[in-house]
Amino acid sequence: MGRLINWAESRSGPEEFHSSLLLLPLESNSHCHRHGNMNRRPPLLLFLFLLLLLLHLIFLPRSDSSAACSTKCGSLDVRYPFGTGFGCGAPNFFPAVTCDGDSDSNRQLTLNTHVGKYPITSISYSASTVTVMPPLMSTCATMHPAGSPAFGLDWSAPFQIAPAASVFVLLACASPLAVGPPLCDPAAGPRLCSSLLACPAVAAIGLPLYAPTNTCCVYSPAGLGPKGDLDIQRLGCSSYASVKSTGPWSQTDASTWEYGVVLQYGEAGTSVAEDVVTAEACSACEGSGGACGYAPPKDYFVCVCDSGLNTSTDCYGLSADELKNFWSTSTATATATNHPTWTITSSRGN
Ligand SMILES: *[C@@H]1O[C@H](CO)[C@@H](O)[C@H](O)[C@H]1NC(C)=O
Repeated sequence: MGRLINWAESRSGPEEFHSSLLLLPLESNSHCHRHGNMNRRPPLLLFLFLLLLLLHLIFLPRSDSSAACSTKCGSLDVRYPFGTGFGCGAPNFFPAVTCDGDSDSNRQLTLNTHVGKYPITSISYSASTVTVMPPLMSTCATMHPAGSPAFGLDWSAPFQIAPAASVFVLLACASPLAVGPPLCDPAAGPRLCSSLLACPAVAAIGLPLYAPTNTCCVYSPAGLGPKGDLDIQRLGCSSYASVKSTGPWSQTDASTWEYGVVLQYGEAGTSVAEDVVTAEACSACEGSGGACGYAPPKDYFVCVCDSGLNTSTDCYGLSADELKNFWSTSTATATATNHPTWTITSSRGN
């Protein structure tokens, strides 16, 4: 095997390329040393170096929207079953979930319902939950009168309220008795309510600071009504907050809590066997840098790769890394034939 010389160590200059492929001719008998006849070859070396660099740049994975499906929407990592558009992710998550926005800087994963569009602010792939921030939901910092209905989900979409992960707190209720127990949680209610009513933003919903807690109710049913809606006006209230149970509730300062509605997602409608096959194919696809998708009309699984190509397996063989592996493997084979050979090494990530 020829000796490997790292150009980046022996000369200054190539480090300014973010990633450089280094190419040096080495004869197996080692006549060629650093100060030997190698110096007569720079034009050829330079030419080949630039050629390799060019190839490398051409095969760099593209992060723009050249691929039909993206693994990012704004700052969120988008993985199966979520997708950034039609044909991406799992078929029953579109059009319930879309990646809205017209430029990379303002893209936002969004849950679309018959009530409104809710920005998805986080996804827990391990717990199969998402957090959504309905624009008319109140928080300690900003309070609003809610629309009617206040919040809603489509039964046809694979989302439902995650039990116990967040609670709805109904605010500015005209007639607390109309809500009353058992709908209002008497245990958690007074403490959560008095903390929220200490937020100066309550003025926006027509309440004085430190209003009596009987205008407030921690709504304890974990689900929504028959239409999939939270109709707080029917309950005599005009605003709501949804507080995440993971937040530091021990603090009475409601400005330190986390807000948002936590939803459980699942893929209703596919059989268990289908799920397993897709999950395996999909994790191989995502492991190779691709995004999982489906091809209508039969919605067969496809792996959508950065290069713009779709495969039924994964993106290996279509990426820059694979090209490098291929070349270094063929070099190892050529060395054994005892001819002068080219040795390629990459200085990336030293
Ligand atoms: C790849 O799949 C995506 C998602 O299904 C689709 O939008 C796109 O047109 C496909 N591209 C090709 C080249 O078939």
